[in-house]
Amino acid sequence: YLYSPLLFAIGSASTLLYSPPATRHSLPPPFPPMSSRKKLIAGNWKMNGNRVEATRIAAGLARKLTDADRPLPRITLCPSFPYLGLVHDLLENTAIKIGAQNCSEYLEGSYTGEASAKQIKDIGCAHVILGHSERRSHFKETNANIKAKAAVALKEKLIPIICIGETLAQKEAGQTITAILSQLRESLPKDIRAEQFLIAYEPVWAIGSGSTPTCEEIEHVHGAIRQELGKIVSPAGITPILYGGSVSPANAKEIMKIQNVNGVLVGGASLKLDEFWDIIQSSDE
Ligand code: PGA
Repeated sequence: YLYSPLLFAIGSASTLLYSPPATRHSLPPPFPPMSSRKKLIAGNWKMNGNRVEATRIAAGLARKLTDADRPLPRITLCPSFPYLGLVHDLLENTAIKIGAQNCSEYLEGSYTGEASAKQIKDIGCAHVILGHSERRSHFKETNANIKAKAAVALKEKLIPIICIGETLAQKEAGQTITAILSQLRESLPKDIRAEQFLIAYEPVWAIGSGSTPTCEEIEHVHGAIRQELGKIVSPAGITPILYGGSVSPANAKEIMKIQNVNGVLVGGASLKLDEFWDIIQSSDE
């Protein structure tokens, strides 16, 4: 991919110190890191848990939050549909927000088994995860579906967390940037504004595998996403870009220090209260 001369000029004019990995064709990310903004830690429970577990984790987090003696990042929990109401009620008087893991692309009506963005908003969700790779692979969701879902989410003032990420085959073929940038362009509704959504970069091969990209690779991809966002929204610097895929207490701190990483989307570790709390505390903002 090519960085435009104008953006290059902006990038060079800034005082950012950035050494591109020697083997890659890359230039400085054109936007300053969002160091002044709080990180966002999102927990994606997927199709796991039950009433007892959901209560234990949500109530435990609420308690830890009350006892915390330092500023914390923004936190959002995304349980599966049956527990959204329960978790919402347990967290009602806390700063923790809740999100759904999917929504229908239809507004309302005869779509048995679906849940609309309006209903998700109605029960108190702030966010909705869209285009997770498990939805793309198991349920054959396309960029066009995700774009339609994002459009209804925006209509209801729900903030979509739009997931993009390359497969192992794409990574091995050197197609990471091409793959994620086309997902990005094709999944965003026309006229979306910079403050209305988040992106989560989740390499498919890193999800639930215990493997993560190197910090240089994450920085490279997040820089490319930021650059592409600059062609779509303004100011692109305010759209948070989360990293997701095998985030754990062991790597969260290092990952959240990377330029243009504005938070993390956590799967497995968000089902373990102590691990999730450690990740929350790894954010220095
Ligand atoms: P993981 O999942 O943290 O278990 O790798 C992340 C995700 O799928 O969002």
